[in-house]
Amino acid sequence: MKRIICRDAGEVSEIAAAMIAEQIFRNRESVIGLATGSTPEGLYGKLREMYENGDLDFSGVRTFNLDEYYPIRKSNDQSYDCFMRDKLFSHINVKMENIHIPNGECSDPAEECIAYEQMIAEAGGVDIQVLGIGLNGHIGFNEPERELRMDTHPTELTASTIEANSRFFSSIDEVPTKALTMGMGTIMRARSIILLITGAHKAAIAKKIFSGVVTTEVPASFLNLHPNTTVLLDEAAASEL
Ligand code: PGA
Repeated sequence: MKRIICRDAGEVSEIAAAMIAEQIFRNRESVIGLATGSTPEGLYGKLREMYENGDLDFSGVRTFNLDEYYPIRKSNDQSYDCFMRDKLFSHINVKMENIHIPNGECSDPAEECIAYEQMIAEAGGVDIQVLGIGLNGHIGFNEPERELRMDTHPTELTASTIEANSRFFSSIDEVPTKALTMGMGTIMRARSIILLITGAHKAAIAKKIFSGVVTTEVPASFLNLHPNTTVLLDEAAASEL
């Protein structure tokens, strides 16, 4: 894993946006893997700016999001569908039919996950995947477990993730307890990966992924085995390295 320590979260977003732009310049039909959460919001702001300034064209780009709560209505303002529209998609010229997010409204989650994995394969795989990291080391909703799943699958959220995400809901009881997520294999098959880590509260988990150990207890530690992963950290997140 390549490590870049940035001055602050703004610089993390700038470098991540430049890496995505470079991929789109190389291939205007690139397949971009996207993530939700507070960490990539700055990155989406930069991509919007680049589009508004006429520097970036998303008309050929295809996107696949990492995960979605289950079950959840797309109209629920906490759905990742809504987040992505609000923070990025409704502000750029990406085509609706090129946007993919696991469907939190589906009636058969197992079938939805199989179809999602297949769509990624049919698109030719992900060129560049954006990731955040949970306080417990999760990527997507691949939570720490004895065994990790390879492909897109339905999963249960851990108590720590429900607690962490409750800040977006009016009460913890409203946080969905399940999700649909790309698997570890889906993520590791991306040709390049950018992991964004910002804030002092992420310093301990950042230290763990650079400890030289790969363990299912820290799913993000598997990124050490990926041939083209860049970790962008701000100084606060890098303070224990
Ligand atoms: P955050 O979430 O960016 O809101 O910290 C990251 C994650 O849980 O993957």
